[in-house]
Amino acid sequence: MARFRHLISIDDLSKDDIVYILDKAEEFEDIARGKKCNILEGKILANLFFEPSTRTRMSFEVAMKRLGGEVLNMTAQEASSIAKGETLADTIRVVSKYADAIVIRHPLEGSARLAAEFSEVPVINAGDGAGQHPTQTLLDLYTIRKESKLEGLKIALMGDLKYSRTVHSLIKALTLFDAKIYLISPESLRLPEEFLEELEGDIEIANLEDVIGEIDVLYVTRIQKERFPDEEEYRKVAGSYKITPEVLKDAKDDLIVMHPLPRVDEIDPRVDRTKHAKYFDQAFYGVPVRMAILTEVMLD
Ligand code: NCD
Repeated sequence: MARFRHLISIDDLSKDDIVYILDKAEEFEDIARGKKCNILEGKILANLFFEPSTRTRMSFEVAMKRLGGEVLNMTAQEASSIAKGETLADTIRVVSKYADAIVIRHPLEGSARLAAEFSEVPVINAGDGAGQHPTQTLLDLYTIRKESKLEGLKIALMGDLKYSRTVHSLIKALTLFDAKIYLISPESLRLPEEFLEELEGDIEIANLEDVIGEIDVLYVTRIQKERFPDEEEYRKVAGSYKITPEVLKDAKDDLIVMHPLPRVDEIDPRVDRTKHAKYFDQAFYGVPVRMAILTEVMLD
């Protein structure tokens, strides 16, 4: 029996479910690196992306293919003809008759939850506007567990905390692991109040200089330009923070720097060559983690 049917929000999972998926992902690492496997042979995944994506879409596709399954990708042209008139509900009703599971990314918050209501097959949320991105959170937690430690973690979340769905998902999961969370952002990009009110656990607004010497993880995000209601507001904060080797000079030896990618200018490429940089490994870990999720929802 699967632990969950759909994966829409990280809130749908208990701590126990999360640890179970991370353990399962561990077992898929060899297959993610190319070892043969056919457990999803005969299964079809539909990738419905109404917003740009490279890593998320491709890592779901790689995960599926390396497990012997197949993938239907909705093309940009099909996405635009849907935008011309068909409702999301109708698209989902139809696609769920073609595939064994659906991965959806959509600009509207709540869209994945709506899709799940109309789907005959499991729906996985790959990002709904500024809402949630639960599969990214699972791969972020996997990266933290592998490259640092999950329990007793001190982490700084930096950048666009207002619109980053990766942060909105991750922050909820971190409280399950009793993390100490520092929030670092330009004033206008602070974490929305409703999150602060809802969150239990140790969370505080900080400056990077004050905490760089004690954190285990620095999680950097891109300013989510596409979510700004007005270009002028974006221009006011564009380029307002940047991680460089100099910024990291007082960091703990084993500090890891993470980023969901794509980065724009918030991490200097010189950081890539430091021992702290883990964002490319993080992108790889998306494959075993998504394998664990796909097998969970597709196999009985
Ligand atoms: C993130 C997203 O789409 O929310 N990207 C991703 O899935 N790796 C982060 C971003 O776009 O900045």
